[in-house]
Amino acid sequence: MNPADTIEGLAIAQAMRDSPLLYAAAEIAHTVGFVVLVGATLMFDLRVLGLSRQIPVRALSRHLLPWSLGALFVIVPTGLMMFAAHADDLLDNGPFKLKMALLFAAGMNAAMFRTGPYQTVKSWDTNAAAPPLARASVALSMALWIGVISCGRLIAYF
Ligand code: HEM
Repeated sequence: MNPADTIEGLAIAQAMRDSPLLYAAAEIAHTVGFVVLVGATLMFDLRVLGLSRQIPVRALSRHLLPWSLGALFVIVPTGLMMFAAHADDLLDNGPFKLKMALLFAAGMNAAMFRTGPYQTVKSWDTNAAAPPLARASVALSMALWIGVISCGRLIAYF
């Protein structure tokens, strides 16, 4: 039996297929989760790009990062529940596969930002331009997350 069939045979996958209400609840929670994650990320990225320079970057990060990370505890389980329900089809779904690739790239980009240009944030925390590498990284972040959302929405059309 191929792995997708094993996943689709799980009790949770069966329940997600049998109960439209459970599937809808998972999709609503998934949506609320990524609204918080992507919303917080885009607000931080716009600040680093240079908007509202009077707001300290580190203070904004301390406020937004816990919400972004916390939202993952809603997004990932609900995403996996929806995936399990139709694993075989989704592994053949172009937008779904591209979404997973963009998700990985967005995670790598965020990790490289934190371990790279963000290390010098003290020197550009308030009323100063962020270094070009920091601005390039957050511009890439915005493009990747909008790509993830677009692919997520396109899943249903393919
Ligand atoms: C972490 C960032 C994520 C974001 C921003 C995101 C975003 C989205 C969006 C915008 C949709 C479309 C919702 C709609 O059509 O109403 C969606 C659907 C979906 N997502 Fe995610 N997602 C994320 C993570 C995941 C993960 C980790 C998985 C699990 C493998 C996943 C699995 C799915 C599935 C299966 C659907 C299709 C639901 C359907 O159309 O019935 N997502 N996601």
